[in-house]
Amino acid sequence: MSAHTTLEPLASASSGPLTGNVRVPGDKSISHRSLMLGAIAEGETIIEGLLEGEDVLASAAAMRQLGASVEKIDGRYHVTGTGLGAFRQPEEVLDFGNAGTGVRLCMGLVGTHDFTTRFDGDASLRSRPMGRVLDPLRLMGTEVIEGEDDKLPLALRGPKTPVPIEYALPMASAQVKSCVLLAGLTIPGTTVVIEPVRTRDHTENMLTGFGAQLEIIDQPDGSRRIALEGLPKLTGQRVTVPADPSSAAFPLVAALIVPGSDITIENVMMNPTRIGLIDTLIEMGGDITLSNQRVSGGETIADLRVKSSALKGVTVPADRAPSMIDEYPILAIAAACAQGETVMLGLEELRVKESDRLTATARGLKLNGVDCTEGPDTLTVRGGPVPGGGMVPTSLDHRIGMSFLILGLVAKQPVSIDNRRVMDTSFPGFVDLFETMGARFDTGTGA
Ligand code: S3P
Repeated sequence: MSAHTTLEPLASASSGPLTGNVRVPGDKSISHRSLMLGAIAEGETIIEGLLEGEDVLASAAAMRQLGASVEKIDGRYHVTGTGLGAFRQPEEVLDFGNAGTGVRLCMGLVGTHDFTTRFDGDASLRSRPMGRVLDPLRLMGTEVIEGEDDKLPLALRGPKTPVPIEYALPMASAQVKSCVLLAGLTIPGTTVVIEPVRTRDHTENMLTGFGAQLEIIDQPDGSRRIALEGLPKLTGQRVTVPADPSSAAFPLVAALIVPGSDITIENVMMNPTRIGLIDTLIEMGGDITLSNQRVSGGETIADLRVKSSALKGVTVPADRAPSMIDEYPILAIAAACAQGETVMLGLEELRVKESDRLTATARGLKLNGVDCTEGPDTLTVRGGPVPGGGMVPTSLDHRIGMSFLILGLVAKQPVSIDNRRVMDTSFPGFVDLFETMGARFDTGTGA
C-alpha cells in the first residue's frame, strides 16, 4: 500500500459552469463486502463495477492472503471462496492501508478463527480506535496477542470454541455492527447486535443475499435488533455495485455551487441509510431531480440531475448523522456558499474518521477565509463569498482533499491541498472526471 508520504500538492481554481453526464466509481461499502462475502462463500462470486480504489484493493489483497482467489477477468472481479471457516493462517501481515472499513470488517471475518492474524495500516489507520471492534471480539473469546492501546499494528488469535454474544453497540457504527455479524457467521448459535439508531444496512442485505438467516426487528425505542444464525451455507453470487452516493456528493455539491452548472450523475445508489446529504441539500434549496429510478442488485438506484442553486443555511439534526456520516466535509463546502448559517449537530463520530474530520474541516474553511465555529460535536458555518487562497492539510484524508478542491471552484483565489494522491483511496479519476465537466485544476501551490 502506498503511504502517500511524498506530498504532491494540487490546486483548483474558479471555474465556468459544470456540464455533462457523469458516472462516479462503485460504492466503497458494497465493494469491500462483496469481496469479503465472496471470500467465505462456496463457489464463485462475480462482481461488476467494483470500486478500484486503494481501500478496496487492500481488502482484495487480504482475501487472497487468507486463501480466496480474486481475479479480474474482462473488467469483472471473480472471487472463489474458501467456504465458511476455511481461511488459512496468513503468512504476512494484512496491510489495510487507509481503510477503516476493510480492517474492522476483516477483524470480524477472521478474528474468531483458531490461528493468529496480524493487521496493520498507514499512519491514519494506526491512529484510529480499534477497541470498538476488539471489545465484542474479546467477548466471543478472541485474544489480542500483540498491540498497544487497541491500535494497529496488532495481532488477533481466535479461540478454540468461540461463543455467540448479544451486543448493544455503544456508538452508531456500521463497521462495528458488521464486524460482530461477520464474526457470528463462524459461531454456532445466534449472534445478536442491537444498534441504537439505524446505520447503513449493506452487511445485513448482502448476507441475506448470500444465504444467511437474519431476523431484523425495529424496536419501539427506535433501536434495531439484528439476530444472525451461525454457520449458514453461503453461496457465491453475482453482485452489481451501484455508484457510491458518498462519491456522487462531490459533483453534486460542485454543480449546486458553481453558477450556471447543469449535470446528471448516473446510477447513484439511493439506499435510505445513505442519502441524508441529498435530503439536506434539497432543504437548503438545491435543485436536484431524481429520474430513471430502478432496482439493481437489490438496491434502488437513480440518475440525479443537478442545477446550480441559491442555497440557504439550515440546521442539520443529530439523528441524520448516520445517513450522511462521510458527507459533512462536503456539506460544509455547500454551507460556505449558502446564505446564512448552517448548523451541524451530533458530529462526535467525525473525530475518529481518516482524520479528525471536524477539526480538519474547520481548519480548511478558516484557511480559506470562511467564517465557522467548531464545537465539541458541532460545526457552524456562516456562508458568503469565499476568499480562498489557502493550502489545506489533508492528513491522509481523501474526503478532506476532495471537499476543498470543490471549494476552490468557487473561491476568488485558488484553493490548494497538500496531497493530490489522497483521492486514490476512494475516487480514482477524480480530477479527470471534474475536468470533463469543466473544472480547472493546477499542480503546484496554485499561487
Ligand atoms: C462504513 C461505515 C462508516 C463510514 C465508512 C464506511 C461501512 O463508518 O464512515 O466510510 O462501510 O460500514 P462507521 O461505521 O465507523 O461510522
